Amino acid sequence: GFLITISELANRMSVKKNKVVEIITQLELNNISNDILDQETAQLISEEMGYKVILHLDNKTEFLLLKNRNINHIQKILPRAPIVTIMGHVDHGKTSLLDKICSTKVVNQEFGGITQHIGAYSVFTKNGKIIFIDTPGHSAFTAMRARGAQITDIIILVIAVDDGVMPQTIEAIKHAFLAKVPIIVAINKIDKSENNINHIKKDLLKYEIISEDFGGETMFIPVSAKTGKGLKNLLQAILLQAEMLELKSDYEGMATGVVIESFLDKGYGPTVSIIILEGCLKKGDVCICGMEYGKIRVIHNENRQEITKASPSMPVLIYGLSGLPRTGEKLIVVKNEKKAREVSIYRKFKLREKEFLSKKQKNIENLFQNL
Ligand code: GTP
Ligand code: MG
Repeated sequence: GFLITISELANRMSVKKNKVVEIITQLELNNISNDILDQETAQLISEEMGYKVILHLDNKTEFLLLKNRNINHIQKILPRAPIVTIMGHVDHGKTSLLDKICSTKVVNQEFGGITQHIGAYSVFTKNGKIIFIDTPGHSAFTAMRARGAQITDIIILVIAVDDGVMPQTIEAIKHAFLAKVPIIVAINKIDKSENNINHIKKDLLKYEIISEDFGGETMFIPVSAKTGKGLKNLLQAILLQAEMLELKSDYEGMATGVVIESFLDKGYGPTVSIIILEGCLKKGDVCICGMEYGKIRVIHNENRQEITKASPSMPVLIYGLSGLPRTGEKLIVVKNEKKAREVSIYRKFKLREKEFLSKKQKNIENLFQNL
């Protein structure tokens, strides 16, 4: 979490420092020393004063305070569909599995069969909707996977039965632990052989992934993306896990979302695929997204049909942002465009400052090395 001084917090809320001190006294937060507040305390104080704290994903020391956000409307809290990210070592069959589940044939369209981006897909089952996110397994995409893990409610760890636990399998487990996201293991390619399943379960004990038959809590589902065997069990396992998480969101307030991927479209310009986390995103909303901002001109659903609003757990494409935010960056709707532009400029400035400082640091290190 971040640390902030009382004066800085007061500044960000545009109130006098005395006002903040007053609240501190009122809340009996007497153990504050040196004028410095930790994240929890700062959040408590700002919420007490009618502000909502929005954390910036990549940089925990930066945060936004939004006045009276969503306080004036009646919240409509309802269950939402689970967001499930598929992870695992390269070529273990992540995209094929998703293809078989959605029957989309994404694999055939990929360059050389290697996933280089994060795509989102909704799947409708009898017992509810599930949102799937595919990730690349190639070793070059660590950062993308790390951000993918933060977006998700559940991680499906795909392990090819004939290849077993591999470096990116282990990496995915680490991301899941860091992001505190539950894992379901899908042992894939069982059309080839089923001999190795127990071996994989034993291997994973080292990483504290303990299967139910070994006395643990992790579900292991044998599947074949080729024949479709076990896929029903996998969907069931996901819905079961989701039920335990009791996922709920507000469907009415100003929206927040998270970026899945972004790209430049020849006709539309900056195109950003996001998943809505909270609230209702509407055409015409002004938003901040990472270092970018803008008014949403068009919203498309995942079938590229135009829609006017989007609700929690929906993957959508939005058009109208000033540039391309990165995967995992948070989108928030704000009331006025001026504020959005200010935040964007501030964030860009902070980034340049950070880059400058790290360059300077490197130069100093080089200097010492050459002495
Ligand atoms: P990256 O995205 O590059 O990490 O790969 P991926 O994990 O998405 O693997 P992908 O789905 O592209 O599949 C890799 C290869 O394994 C392809 O040749 C698939 O046809 C094959 N494959 C995937 N699932 C199965 C399966 O259940 N059985 C068999 N026999 N082959 C499979
Ligand atoms: Mg793939």
